[in-house]
Amino acid sequence: MREVAIVGTGMTRFGELWESSLRDLFAEAALAAIEDAGVDHLDSIYVGNMSAGRFVGQEHLGPLMADQIGMAGVAATRVESACASGGVALRTAFLEVASGASDLVLASGVEKMTDGADVTDVLATAADQELEAYQGITFPGLYAMIARAHMEAHGTTEEDLARVTIKNHHHGALNPKAQFRREFTLAQVLGSAMVAEPLRLLHCSPVSDGAAAVLVCPLELARHYTDRPVKIIGSGLATAPMALADRRDPAALDAVKRSAERAYEMAESDPGKIQVAEVHDCFSISEICCTEELGLVERGRGGQAVQSGETALGGRLPVNTSGGLKSKGHPVGATGIAQAIEIYQQLRGEAGDRQVPDAHCGLTQNMGGSGASSVVHIFERA
Ligand code: COA
Repeated sequence: MREVAIVGTGMTRFGELWESSLRDLFAEAALAAIEDAGVDHLDSIYVGNMSAGRFVGQEHLGPLMADQIGMAGVAATRVESACASGGVALRTAFLEVASGASDLVLASGVEKMTDGADVTDVLATAADQELEAYQGITFPGLYAMIARAHMEAHGTTEEDLARVTIKNHHHGALNPKAQFRREFTLAQVLGSAMVAEPLRLLHCSPVSDGAAAVLVCPLELARHYTDRPVKIIGSGLATAPMALADRRDPAALDAVKRSAERAYEMAESDPGKIQVAEVHDCFSISEICCTEELGLVERGRGGQAVQSGETALGGRLPVNTSGGLKSKGHPVGATGIAQAIEIYQQLRGEAGDRQVPDAHCGLTQNMGGSGASSVVHIFERA
């Protein structure tokens, strides 16, 4: 396999972007990445997207998006793995470049969620339709059950959950691209409306529009495009039973653990080498569970790690310096690519007020549904 690097990035602001359509969002991010890298052509394009068909009535995104950026004719296709679509698009691009099949590949993600679709209903298509969605369960409901199981198994508290929100909104307030650049107090989080007990409104990621794109190429060509490429040194994808009832333990996210093990193995790395991580905090409980499954904190200590400030900017291992899904926003198909952009900026020393000093190794973890799929990437400064 060839060594692979990211050499350019582009991203829209995340939020309720009434003035931009699905294709506008994609074009803004894609053209910014192409311009950033200074490339004059692409070999192929991957578009991570969960459900444009349901959200805005548009399928067949590959050719539409290629044409939208003046590249009709280029190989282009959509990649879908629910909320992990962006991360899987990045992995697909990585593998295509690593294999030697292509040199210049655009990995992107886009979602337009605020155009009037029943968002809760569309998101529920990423759950087990027969065993869960048909019975009326929603995503906040599924993660509420995961939260209860984690609380019972490990003593995780409502305050632990709230501290994830407070930390990520503190980080997001420093990110110009974030949907909610607002800080919250403990009283505000614990006083916000109950959505699915114990998860309140301020424990949930929001409904968002947005797009993100990165330009991937072989490391041997990377310095034609940038003086500071960032290598992708590990990529792991895994799955687990979709229905919570079919899992050995609802508090365990086995796909996250396995995807991390595969990425660490490919990278010949381990959790001790990670200095900054973007982790899938679609609900505050998921950051707690995922940091444990990734081996970044000890099992059962995810809540305490947030309480102690270990995972905040200035702490031992800052998690979700971008604001995470919670504060930056979660346009589902774009999230995995936006995570990679945050780590790219961190490893290049370009994260401004959010910079983790001298970061040279980072990780992203992007999850589909209630954890039935997970994709992990490990990055290193070249
Ligand atoms: N975080 C912070 N603030 C939020 C928010 C969030 N997640 N969601 C909404 N808000 C704010 C809005 O900006 C609005 O503020 P304002 O009154 O100052 O304008 C207020 O809260 C109410 O917003 P509204 O849009 O009416 O909320 P809602 O009740 O329709 O939706 C949720 C709230 C939590 C149900 C919705 O954001 C949601 O479904 N989130 C989960 C998305 C999801 O499941 N993603 C996939 C994960 S796997």
